[in-house]
Amino acid sequence: MKDFEFYNPVKILFGKDQLEKIGDLVPAEKKILLLYGGGSIKKNGVYEGIINALKDRDIVEFKGIEPNPTYETCMNAVDLIKKEKVEYLLAAGGGSVIDATKFIAAAVSYEEGDPWEILSKGKEIKASIPFADILTLPATGTEMNKNAVISRKSTNEKLAFSSPYSFPQFSVLLPEAAGTLPKEQVANGVVDAFVHVIEQYLTYPVNAPLQDRFAESILKTLIEEGPKTYKNPKDYESMSNLMWSATMALNGIIKAGVPEDWSVHDIGHELTAFHNIDHARTLAIVLPGIWHVLKEEKKDKLVQYGERVWNITEGTDDERAEKAIDRTVEFFESLGVKTKFSDYGIPAETIDKIVDRFKKRGLIFGIGDRKLVKPGVIRQALEDRL
Ligand code: NZQ
Ligand code: ZN
Repeated sequence: MKDFEFYNPVKILFGKDQLEKIGDLVPAEKKILLLYGGGSIKKNGVYEGIINALKDRDIVEFKGIEPNPTYETCMNAVDLIKKEKVEYLLAAGGGSVIDATKFIAAAVSYEEGDPWEILSKGKEIKASIPFADILTLPATGTEMNKNAVISRKSTNEKLAFSSPYSFPQFSVLLPEAAGTLPKEQVANGVVDAFVHVIEQYLTYPVNAPLQDRFAESILKTLIEEGPKTYKNPKDYESMSNLMWSATMALNGIIKAGVPEDWSVHDIGHELTAFHNIDHARTLAIVLPGIWHVLKEEKKDKLVQYGERVWNITEGTDDERAEKAIDRTVEFFESLGVKTKFSDYGIPAETIDKIVDRFKKRGLIFGIGDRKLVKPGVIRQALEDRL
């Protein structure tokens, strides 16, 4: 096992009767900005629940945060916060609203220059306005981590940052509110959470059996509960299991002491940046390509994954690894999540654009757990998905 530090201060309130408690958690004297997206919270009772729980508080609203939230929208919120002298942020909705809120909270306090540098240059955050969130979409894990992903419209970029200042103070997880999600968003959530686990598990063995079994248990739960939730998003029990699985997939527990390989996410973000494809769908495209190209390097873990998660116990190691990849693709496709460029009308020229971008960013030496993912591997992995 590798050395590690583990720290996660996020208070979680999970279930049916939790929203009313936020009145006790949001400091009474602070002026609050409520941030949300295109209006889903007005249809599932969450907006009303928040307003009731925070009655008599000084609240300003910022609505219209889009999926794959943009820097441009975030900076409008920053202006509003400065003008209104807001002191506490409350995000309500999916990962996009929460990620935007993390960036906004940091950008307000960033005095060294343009806050875009937090993303483009990895500039350190030294302060952030306190914030919390109400989650209505199981997928990203942002509700219990310190990461956020922001896009910039003017340059077609999508970049991530991570900071200890960007943990929410608390997160209220509402499986019931997630019952109004369209099936496609449920499928996205299952696939995103699944690939989060994979990026922290399917690398190479380091004798960390507990972390491996945590990871495998989340994968198996997603395989059992995901399809039930996909068929009926209003099934409270399965939605609860999906929601908690997605949170556990990216709150730091399964990555403690093991290698990570986020290359599928890094490449997937480029497909969203160029073609505005849903985040999870980009992962479903890229993952099988990376596995096909790096099958030898990842074989030990692919075989273990095949056996423990998909009960693949026969054949040579090579056949078992190949079967494990096939079963994963079948699983994604069974949720209506397609895995090829042609399914989304992505032209082959996009491969050149993506490879060039990685070269320009200086990633010539490779990304991933052993820096195996170099521009040539990215090209081959994407050509595998045409
Ligand atoms: O905008 P509203 O009206 O709220 O509608 C949203 C949005 O259109 C809707 N929605 C949310 N809850 C709903 C609902 N519709 C009906 N009923 C509900 N209960 O769903 C749509 C998609 O929402 P979005 O927040 O974009 O989805 P998701 O949670 O999948 O977030 C995706 C973003 O998170 C980033 C992605 O890159 C992407 O930008 N990620 C963040 C991570 C992190 N911070 O750790 C990790 C992930 O890998 C990911 O990159
Ligand atoms: Zn993701």
